[in-house]
Amino acid sequence: MEQMDSEKDQLGEQLIRASRLAEIGEMAAGFAHEINNPLQIIKNEYTLIDMIFSDLKKKGQLNETENLFDIQDSLDQIHKQVERCATITQAILKFGRKDESVPQDLDLSVFIAEVTKMVTKKASVHGIAIKQSISQGLSWVHVDAGQLQQVLLNLYNNAIDAIIERHGSSGGELSIEAHAVSNTQIEIRVADNGSGIRSENLNKIFTPFFTTKPVGKGTGLGLAVCYGIITKMGGQMTFDSEEDAGTTFTIRIPAIHQALSNKKTNLRF
Ligand SMILES: Nc1ncnc2c1ncn2[C@@H]1O[C@H](COP(=O)(O)OP(=O)(O)OP(=O)(O)O)[C@@H](O)[C@H]1O
Ligand SMILES: [Mg+2]
Repeated sequence: MEQMDSEKDQLGEQLIRASRLAEIGEMAAGFAHEINNPLQIIKNEYTLIDMIFSDLKKKGQLNETENLFDIQDSLDQIHKQVERCATITQAILKFGRKDESVPQDLDLSVFIAEVTKMVTKKASVHGIAIKQSISQGLSWVHVDAGQLQQVLLNLYNNAIDAIIERHGSSGGELSIEAHAVSNTQIEIRVADNGSGIRSENLNKIFTPFFTTKPVGKGTGLGLAVCYGIITKMGGQMTFDSEEDAGTTFTIRIPAIHQALSNKKTNLRF
């Protein structure tokens, strides 16, 4: 009974969090959309000024004085910062977008391996060993491939960042594990031996825009997006973390029987 009660509480909490995320997503996307328009105009104006400048230089109508260099520096800075704003507004728009998902039958054992391959190069550059253990004959799932890929990549990239923070470029371990918990559910675990999450941040990580990464690096939307996607798939996402030891994210998603899926998995990213 106690277990049922706690599961009910968790489910309730998850539903409240999901609907709050949807509301925040909608509001943030509204802001981002409004900011995006003037941003595009600034970008166009910058391009125009830059063109005029290059033209004048080519014609020898500009004296290469210190003032000119200062102006050029300022222009470069404007360009860089506008690009940064554009990246952030794009991320927010993506977060708030209510895209219709297009579910398809996916063979998870093939799919997870394909997504993992996308980060192997990045991991090896940082001396991170990847361990992958996927149960043979894992049931299939019926989900949007692009969205599941986005979730896994977000988790892998977070893990890699945390590993680099703790280990630098040697001693990192990232492990991916998938198995069926029942006929109807599959569990995927992404574990790292990185920095871990500080106890005061444990209840903040799914909050949109919460990030501990340096300015300009993270938008803090990764996990909020992952959480929304998994919840919409009818799944759950939980985590366990210990400071200076590592973090494990666990996803559970509904499985379909292999016998029911007669379509071949089409791995296109
Ligand atoms: N595997 C992990 N190990 C340690 N901390 C983590 C891990 N995953 C997430 N976090 C913490 O949760 C925060 C929020 O993660 P989230 O993915 O939402 O945003 P982000 O990675 O900071 O930025 P973005 O994903 O938008 O680039 C991170 O800044 C980090 O502090
Ligand atoms: Mg992230």
